[in-house]
Amino acid sequence: MTYDGLPNPGRNDECWCGSGKKYKKCHRDLDERLEELAAQGLELLPRSLLKTAADIEGIKVSAEVNVGALDYVAERIGVGTTTEEIDQWVYNYCIEHDAIPADLNYEGFPKSVCTSINEVVCHGIPCSEDVLKEGDIVNVDMSTIKGGYFSDSSRMFCIGEVDPEWRRLVDVTRESVQAGLAAVKPWGFLGDVSAAVNKVATDAGFTVVREFGGHGIGLEFHEDPWVGFNEEAGTGPVLVPGMCFTIEPMVNMGGQDIDMSDPNGWTVRTADGLPTAQWEVQLVVTETGYELLSW
Ligand code: MF3
Ligand code: CO
Repeated sequence: MTYDGLPNPGRNDECWCGSGKKYKKCHRDLDERLEELAAQGLELLPRSLLKTAADIEGIKVSAEVNVGALDYVAERIGVGTTTEEIDQWVYNYCIEHDAIPADLNYEGFPKSVCTSINEVVCHGIPCSEDVLKEGDIVNVDMSTIKGGYFSDSSRMFCIGEVDPEWRRLVDVTRESVQAGLAAVKPWGFLGDVSAAVNKVATDAGFTVVREFGGHGIGLEFHEDPWVGFNEEAGTGPVLVPGMCFTIEPMVNMGGQDIDMSDPNGWTVRTADGLPTAQWEVQLVVTETGYELLSW
């Protein structure tokens, strides 16, 4: 029996990953290493979550649409844009690229994208009344299904002239994601990524939301692991080549607390009403580090 209950093929049998290669030429060395780490008591995700080469190709096709949709938004967004228009842009972009917006109808979410303005932490619902104005900061969080594969990323947009402290919040949050990416090392820990993100945000005097985090992604929208950004380095699951997940911290200018009482059941705000920012990237862990898939 293996650590995750999956059978191990014989040396000359086909690998479990579907590559068609012999086990000994494919995942056997990796599996042996995983067994050793499991024997040491380290936290490991089941191998069923590790993406195969074919999965990663499929995720890249999906991510190309996701990135393209956000680029499309970036070229058009500005003073006077309504979040309803953003929703229509990304919906049409997906349909024209043989893709489906993953947000649409996800657990009842009514729109194709999340648009979170100023003090909205996440899950803002696009609507025609939300008109972007000079000085706003807005997160556009986009997720795509194409060929059965999921991709997910989000960006901040500064509308016109933005208060320098608000712009610093946006910039520091982006830098925190870069620091998280730099901490992605095969055979390191997910907590290393979390700690790297958290340090950049908190050293700058900001706070990091506890209730929401990143997630595994690929064959499903939200897979294990959950990726919190208030964790300690050297803790959590081991990072293994083939793991695919997002880094998406929500960073608050003021306090850490959030308000989830909006009657629409989705929109999350900062408890103190101060602004908040988020950037999201999707990556796959490789033998040497990571490959960025969506941004
Ligand atoms: N895109 C979000 C994430 O980063 C999830 C949004 S779910 C929705 O995980 F239903 F609000 F769209
Ligand atoms: Co996400």
